[in-house]
Amino acid sequence: MAKTYKIAVMPGDGTGPEVTAEAVKVLKAAAGKFNFKVDLTNFDFGGERYKRTGETLPDSGVEELRKFDAILLGAIGHPDVAPGILEKGILLKARFELDQYINLRPVKLYPGVATPLKDKGPDDINFAVIRENTGDLYTGTGGFTMKGTPHEVAVQSAVYSRFQVDRCLKYAFEYARKFGKKATGRGEHNTLALCGKTNVLTYIYDLWERAFHEMGQKDYPDIKREYYHVDATCMWFVKNPEWFDVIVTGNLFGDIITDLGAMIQGGMGIAAGGNLNPEGVSMFEPIGGSAPKYTGKGVINPLAAICAAQMLLASLGEEKAADVIEKAVMFTTANKLKSLAAGKMGFSTSQVGDIVAEKVAE
Ligand code: IPM
Ligand code: MN
Repeated sequence: MAKTYKIAVMPGDGTGPEVTAEAVKVLKAAAGKFNFKVDLTNFDFGGERYKRTGETLPDSGVEELRKFDAILLGAIGHPDVAPGILEKGILLKARFELDQYINLRPVKLYPGVATPLKDKGPDDINFAVIRENTGDLYTGTGGFTMKGTPHEVAVQSAVYSRFQVDRCLKYAFEYARKFGKKATGRGEHNTLALCGKTNVLTYIYDLWERAFHEMGQKDYPDIKREYYHVDATCMWFVKNPEWFDVIVTGNLFGDIITDLGAMIQGGMGIAAGGNLNPEGVSMFEPIGGSAPKYTGKGVINPLAAICAAQMLLASLGEEKAADVIEKAVMFTTANKLKSLAAGKMGFSTSQVGDIVAEKVAE
């Protein structure tokens, strides 16, 4: 009997619904081709619902989401809602409550895609960032004293437990063993690089560094270990991206370096990520925002959302289907699109979805 996956779809705000529709189109094409079923349920969490009801992601919504095999998210962010409310109330709440402790962000330049890096091609830009997704400055630990007075003090602390660090490192080492350059025939070693700031953040990244080498020595002697400071990481992403294989880092540094990563792989039109709970429910998203100015115009690039759907299927164990979607995306970038930028693709949003879906079904 064909397997059925229960997938929660949260199109969200702005262009989220447009790109999500194309990702769903491709999911369905893959299901048809690979003999599994997707049982989709829509959720309207986002800015419009917040404006209507004052609700972001209620606890009951979290409980609903727990019942699914995976979540596909479009975009969160609304021009009429103050920054922070939807991000914290929906996106971060889902990540925290569902304990999606890994944020996996592949940085892969597909054929035909323009990178701003001169003389770099798909062989040079092909690595993955594993961003810890529950700790660090994102925990909201801190506060104000004397707020609103000239003596106001604000404190916001980076927080990491050994437990959080270890479970993230374990995922990262395993990932490097399975998908590193040696494992995938792209190099001599599987390498995991820790990105930190051990010269200044001498508590947090000291903990990370000790945990990294202890685990590496004991359980993953086959994996080459490297260390880069976060500022240097940014420099090398631009100058020598080919040095990188798998990178593991804390939540805030991961947030920052993956925007840079997205740019060198061709921009927000193509960059996708997974918020993973390897033992629970994971959520996949294009990492660009809701792009309000393009909303409803049919010009936004759906490939990032399609790549999120591809990662979703890989996480469910439908690796063949995921692989075919990725190849279809590569076919599309190599042969069809003029540019990845909104309005410059040479096709509408839904036409791009059609091209990929048809290729998948072939
Ligand atoms: C991301 C985003 C979020 C983050 C924001 C919207 C809270 O920038 O997914 O990278 O900082 O994690
Ligand atoms: Mn970000």
